[in-house]
Amino acid sequence: MTSVLSSAAGRAAIVYSSVTGNTRRIAEALAEASGDALLDVREASDLPDVEVLALGFWVRRGQPDEASQAVWRRLSGKSVFYFGTLGAWPTSPHAGRCREAAERMLRENGNRCLGGFLCQGRVNPRMVELSARKGTHPLTEERRARLAEAARHPDAADCAAAAAAWLAARKTGFSDG
Ligand SMILES: Cc1cc2nc3c(=O)[nH]c(=O)nc-3n(C[C@H](O)[C@H](O)[C@H](O)COP(=O)(O)O)c2cc1C
Repeated sequence: MTSVLSSAAGRAAIVYSSVTGNTRRIAEALAEASGDALLDVREASDLPDVEVLALGFWVRRGQPDEASQAVWRRLSGKSVFYFGTLGAWPTSPHAGRCREAAERMLRENGNRCLGGFLCQGRVNPRMVELSARKGTHPLTEERRARLAEAARHPDAADCAAAAAAWLAARKTGFSDG
């Protein structure tokens, strides 16, 4: 297996993948709360070799996005907290399956999962229009309401909840508590 780890000064770091900025917003809140290094996955061919990592993704077809998966596949033996954004309700069965997929992918490579955080994120209107036109996701009343709510996220409460979860997880992840 090719190592994706490089040396870093701190004990924890945050690496995120984000196309339209939702997941980046959460990542920035985590960095602000913890003072940890923050990296965009597209600019991080090597992940920092720290004790604890926070890995952020956006949900694509019920899974962590491809850029995240490419890095996760090459990561093993780490303590990891994951965070992500998605269009669905965070308490929905779909979101539950997304969590399971993320946790499974991390554990498959022998990483320790310190828990995670998911919240809604605004869905790119061009994608909404495209899928409505194709008929893959018809714009029902329920979907319209869900997308309208997603467009208000992540908000300050999401950022605060994610940061609190990260602070607790990194404490658990550090070998000396
Ligand atoms: C191609 C594509 C596929 C998506 N698939 C899902 C999905 O399966 N489930 C979901 O809840 N949201 C899905 N979304 C919505 C995104 O996960 C959501 O808007 C996310 O907040 C985008 O994050 P970003 O701004 O960090 O890129 C999809 C969006 C796109 C563009």
